[in-house]
Amino acid sequence: MNVPQHIAIILDGNGRWAKLKGMPRNYGHAQGSKNVEKICEVAYKMGVKYLTVYAFSTENWKRPQSEVDALMTLLRNYMKTCLKTAEKNRMKVRVIGDKTRLDDDIRTRIEELEEASKNNDGLNFQIAINYGSRDEMVRAMRKMMKDCEAGKITSDEVTEEVFESYLDTHGIPDPDLLIRTSGELRLSNYLLWQLAYTEFYFTDVPWPDFTKEELEKAIMQYNNRDRRYGKIKEEEDV
Ligand code: IPE
Ligand code: IPE
Ligand code: MG
Repeated sequence: MNVPQHIAIILDGNGRWAKLKGMPRNYGHAQGSKNVEKICEVAYKMGVKYLTVYAFSTENWKRPQSEVDALMTLLRNYMKTCLKTAEKNRMKVRVIGDKTRLDDDIRTRIEELEEASKNNDGLNFQIAINYGSRDEMVRAMRKMMKDCEAGKITSDEVTEEVFESYLDTHGIPDPDLLIRTSGELRLSNYLLWQLAYTEFYFTDVPWPDFTKEELEKAIMQYNNRDRRYGKIKEEEDV
C-alpha cells in the first residue's frame, strides 16, 4: 500500500459528537484533542511523514466567547502535552497561522514547543491555529512587498516557488491527501494554495470517533485513485 507522505486533516464534528451524547460542545473538543494525539502516533507508525491538522480557524473567533475561551484553554494545555509527546515520539512541531492574535502565554508555549522539537527526526506535525488560507496569503504578500520595497526582490523575480517561500508552510511538501471528518464538504479556508493537486477524502465519522481503522480506510481509498501527478496507480502496477 502506498502511504501518503503528507496528510492534512480538517478535524470537524467535535460539537455535534458531544451533543449526540448529551454532553457540552467543549467535552467534544477535549475528546477531539485527545484523538489528535492518537492519530499522530498511528499515522507515523503507518509511515506518514507530515501531518497537518486544522485546530482553530481565523473564522472560529466568531463562535460564542465561552467556546473560544474553552478552545484557547485546551490549546494552552495541549501545547504542554505536546511538548512531552514530541520528545517521546521525536516529533517536529510547527504551528502555522497568525500567532500575533494569540495570548502571550500561548505564543510562548508555541515557541518553546517549536524550539524544543526542531531537531527531531520523527513525524513533522503542523498545527494550524488562527489559520486561514486567505489570511496566510495576504500575510505572505505583505512580507513579499516589504522585501520588494527594501530592494531584496523585484516583481520579475516572483515565481510560484518564491511566493511559496513566504507562506507559513514553506519547506513543507504539499499534502497528498486531505481528510475532512463529519460530513461537511467544504474547505473552510484551509490550505487553498497547498491543496491544488491533493486528493480529497470526506467521511461522515465525527473527529472524536476517527480511529486507526478510519485512517486506513482513507488511505485505502487514496490508493485506488488515479492520481495524475501522484502516480499512485502506476507505482502499484510496477
Ligand atoms: C471542530 O469541531 C473543531 C473546531 C472547529 C475547533 P466543531 O466545533 O466544528 O464541531 P461541529 O462541526 O460544530 O460539530
Ligand atoms: C473548520 O471547521 C475549522 C477547524 C476544523 C478548526 P469549522 O467547523 O469551523 O468549519 P465551518 O465553519 O463549518 O466551515
Ligand atoms: Mg464544525
